Amino acid sequence: MAVDLLLGLQWGDEGKGKIVDVLTSKYNIIARFQGGPNAGHTLVFNGKKHVLHTIPSGIFHDKATNLVGNGVVIDPVIFKKELDKLAEQDVDYKKSLLISRKAHIILPTHRLLDAASEASKGKAKIGSTLKGIGPTYMDKTGRNGLRVGDLELDNWKEKYRALANKHESMIDFYNVDIQYDLKELETEFFAAVKVLKSLKFIDSEEYIYQAQKSGQSILAEGAQGSLLDIDFGTYPFVTSSNTTAAGACTGLGVAPNQIGEVFGIFKAYTTRVGSGPFPTELFDADGEMMAKVGQEFGATTGRARRCGWLDLVALKYACQVNGVTQLMMMKADVLSGFKTLKVATAYKYKGETITHLPFNIEPENIEPIYSDFKGWTADLTEMSEASTLPKELNDYIDFLEKELELPITIVSVGPDRKQTIFR
Ligand code: GDP
Ligand code: IMO
Ligand code: MG
Repeated sequence: MAVDLLLGLQWGDEGKGKIVDVLTSKYNIIARFQGGPNAGHTLVFNGKKHVLHTIPSGIFHDKATNLVGNGVVIDPVIFKKELDKLAEQDVDYKKSLLISRKAHIILPTHRLLDAASEASKGKAKIGSTLKGIGPTYMDKTGRNGLRVGDLELDNWKEKYRALANKHESMIDFYNVDIQYDLKELETEFFAAVKVLKSLKFIDSEEYIYQAQKSGQSILAEGAQGSLLDIDFGTYPFVTSSNTTAAGACTGLGVAPNQIGEVFGIFKAYTTRVGSGPFPTELFDADGEMMAKVGQEFGATTGRARRCGWLDLVALKYACQVNGVTQLMMMKADVLSGFKTLKVATAYKYKGETITHLPFNIEPENIEPIYSDFKGWTADLTEMSEASTLPKELNDYIDFLEKELELPITIVSVGPDRKQTIFR
C-alpha cells in the first residue's frame, strides 16, 4: 500500500498536528520523517490541548503505531518530558511507539553549539529554536553523529565523550559568552537516555517495507514547512532538514514510487516565526488582528509569530516541489470579520512582474501584487458542513483551487478535532 504524506506548505505551524490527529483513524502507522524538537504540533480534543515535539501526532489513538523515523533528530531530555506528559494522560506509549535505530541523537553540547552559533551571528541570526537541530544535522552529514542504535552498544559513552569534547572546543572557538554547567546537563541527559532505551528500537526502513507489503496504511508526518526546507526554503533562514516530500523518502526509507497522496497544509493567511524574508508580512492593524485572533505564538518557544496575507506565489512553489495532490486550508475562522482580504498573486521583481519564487526574496527586491477579496462576518467556529460556509469564503476557496489547480478537501475552522469541515 502506498505511503501518504502530510506536510506544511508555508513556514511551519500550519496546523499539521491537528490534521494528523484528525486523519489517524484511517491509518495503521503514523511516521515522523524529519526535524526534531524544534517542531511543536498542537492537538486539541475533549477540551484539552496537547503539544507534541518529536512524537508523532497519532499517539493519542489506541490502534495506531507511531514511528519516529531515521530522518528525525531526538533530544532524549525533551523526549522524556513528552513521555511524562503522555503518561499523565494514561497513553500506553510503550506499546505504540517505535524509534528508528538510525535516528540521530541531540547531545546537550549540540544545544550549546546552536546557542553559540546564533550569538556569534548577532543581528544576522536565524532565529533558531535553539534545540540543537543545526549542529546535530551537521554532525550527521559530517559523519560524526551518535545514533539511537549506538545506544545499544557497550561503548556508546566513549563515543559520546569524544563528540562532546569536540563540541566543547568548538564552543570555545565561537568566543561568545555562553554560561553552562555540562555536568548538570549530562546528568539529565544520561537519565533521559535510560528512559529512551526502555522503548522499542527498530530497523525502521525494514519495518515500513514489511508493513507496506502486508497492506498496512501509513501516513508520514512532516515537521516545519516547505519554505524552511534546507534546499528549497528561504536559505539561510531555514531549518537543517528536507521538509519537502523528498524528505519522507530519505527520512523513512520509502521509495519515491511508493508515495500516494501528498496532503499539503496551509493557513488561510501566512505566519513565520524567527528571522528571514516574508514578502506579504503585515505591520498594521490587519496583521495585529491575525496574531490576536489566531493566537499566533510559537508552540515550542512561545515567540510571537509574524503575520501576513496569503502568498500564492510561494504556495504554488510549495505545491510544485512537493507534488501536492490535496490541499487543506487551516484557520479560516481567523479571517472572519476582515472587510477585505488580500492574496499575493505575483511579485514585482527588478521592474518585472513574475509569478515564480526567485532566488532572492529579500524585501528590497520584492513587492507583492495583490488581488482583493470581499471578507465575511459569520463566525465559522460552530460550523460543521461545507454547505453552511459563507459565499465570500467559498469565492476565496474557489479562486485558490483554480489558481493552484488542486482541490481543497479540508477547511479547518478552529483548533479542536471537531472543528474540521470535509469538502
Ligand atoms: P503545526 O506545527 O503545523 O502542528 O501547528 P502548531 O500547532 O504549531 O500551530 C497551529 C496552531 O493553530 C495551534 O495552536 C492549533 O491549535 C491552532 N489551530 C489549528 N487549526 C486551527 C484552526 O482551524 N483555527 C484556529 N483558530 N486555530 C487552529
Ligand atoms: P513546526 O513543525 C515554525 C524555524 C525557526 C527558525 C528556523 C530554524 O511546529 O511547524 P531551527 O530550530 O530548526 O534551527 O530553526 O526555523 N522553525 C519553525 N518555525 N514551525 C516549526 O516547526 C519550526 N521549526 C523551526 O523559528 O526560524
Ligand atoms: Mg508548530
